[in-house]
Amino acid sequence: MMEMQPHTAQSRVLVLDIDERRTAELSDTLRVLNYEPVTPCGAASLDRLHDAEDLAVMIGDMPSDEGVGHAFRAAAERHRSLPVLRVTGSEIAPSIDEQLEHHHTWDLDAPVKSAQLEFLLKRAERYKGRERRMRISGKSQSIRSVRRLIEKVADFETTVLITGESGTGKELVARTVHDLSDRREGPFVPINCGAIPAELLESELFGHEKGAFTGAVSARKGRFELAAGGTLFLDEIGDMSLPMQAKLLRVLQERCYERVGGAKTRQCDVRVVAATHRDLPKLVEAGEFREDLFYRLNVFPIEMPPLRKRISDLPGLIDELLVRYCENGDRSLRLHTDAIRALANYRWPGNIRELGNLVERLAILHPSGRIGLRDLPEKYRRHAADSGLGDGRDESSGLNLRDRLRQIEKGIIEAALRDADYVVARAARSLKLRRTTLVEKINKYGLSQQDSAVSCRGRDAES
Ligand SMILES: Nc1ncnc2c1ncn2[C@@H]1O[C@H](COP(=O)(O)OP(=O)(O)OP(=O)(O)O)[C@@H](O)[C@H]1O
Ligand SMILES: [Mg+2]
Repeated sequence: MMEMQPHTAQSRVLVLDIDERRTAELSDTLRVLNYEPVTPCGAASLDRLHDAEDLAVMIGDMPSDEGVGHAFRAAAERHRSLPVLRVTGSEIAPSIDEQLEHHHTWDLDAPVKSAQLEFLLKRAERYKGRERRMRISGKSQSIRSVRRLIEKVADFETTVLITGESGTGKELVARTVHDLSDRREGPFVPINCGAIPAELLESELFGHEKGAFTGAVSARKGRFELAAGGTLFLDEIGDMSLPMQAKLLRVLQERCYERVGGAKTRQCDVRVVAATHRDLPKLVEAGEFREDLFYRLNVFPIEMPPLRKRISDLPGLIDELLVRYCENGDRSLRLHTDAIRALANYRWPGNIRELGNLVERLAILHPSGRIGLRDLPEKYRRHAADSGLGDGRDESSGLNLRDRLRQIEKGIIEAALRDADYVVARAARSLKLRRTTLVEKINKYGLSQQDSAVSCRGRDAES
């Protein structure tokens, strides 16, 4: 099923330009192409900018971050992946330029030609479809770059090698590569090379003919055949025996194979994605993994960061997992700040899988209400005394001081809002800030209830 959005008048495009004449022209062109232009004239339409999903934003002259500049920043904060079409040669305030770095930005020649505009909006539509299929969540720098890699490689037939500790989401990445590729209508076939005894793996992968070995009472297709037209996911590739490695290398090089006990050579039409939690170069050095196979697989490596190195993603991941484990929308389960702080200081050897197990357990034990520090199992509670989110163990230690401080401030405000049930005045009191100051900061960081509520009810209502 193609998920590309139908091209309807509902496809809203923001038009932001201080040049009113050009705004009107751009809007006309959009209407002719059957898109709905939205321009910020008056407070009412500024509100509209905030509550609907937009396809893209077109920007022209925006020399300051007041007015249309402000509208752009608000829209960009809300929809961080909003594609931007930028009229070439337009004057753009430095603060907005900075913001643009976080978006897919495409140049639009001036004067605007409708063919080019249509082409770019089609691209934005395609991009939006991809965004819906992208399942790797998180705002940390390291996970963003993982997402970027997935988006880049998905369209090609390139072999992908995913490495990372156990539970970091390697399989999810493999599925996402498949879902974003042109093979997504085809099958995604996983096989755990470590869990299948070496003597059975060959027939599992390549299939066998009737009578090929004792017990082969009928012919059977292997995973390479089952995955035809789709993606074969070779999980735990580091655990594969050396003889099997040689056989796999041949398929990858020659793109053909035979079933066990069969003479007919079959063409292989699969895209291979492999994963391992083991250190392959080390295995190569130790003579346990073929070097030539390693290079065959390592065409496009993706390394999954451990959770402790992307700890700023923890609150968001908890939100997501709570939604997954709350079976009915009536429940309103949330974690108290002190519990989140303790979890942020834990090392997470089992990464997101471990976090998922914990959240599931908490959701069962505390079906509604708030989970505080004392509700956590002892091993997670031990870290409560430390300083909390953004304490330097996160990758944020690589950021400059200003960015780190912003990140820390954002985390604290997020937590205070959560604790105050998003009553801004209450959160302001707990932070000993003036309400107006807090509102400014909430806008600055794009924090709002929809973005960060842990309440399952809120989430269900959204989806
Ligand atoms: N970004 C994410 N958001 C929500 N859940 C996630 C995310 N990444 C991983 N998960 C969940 O964490 C669990 C572990 O993910 P996955 O099985 O992909 O990890 P893995 O690296 O293959 O682990 P292992 O090495 O143990 O096989 C799964 O339940 C998965 O759905
Ligand atoms: Mg796995």
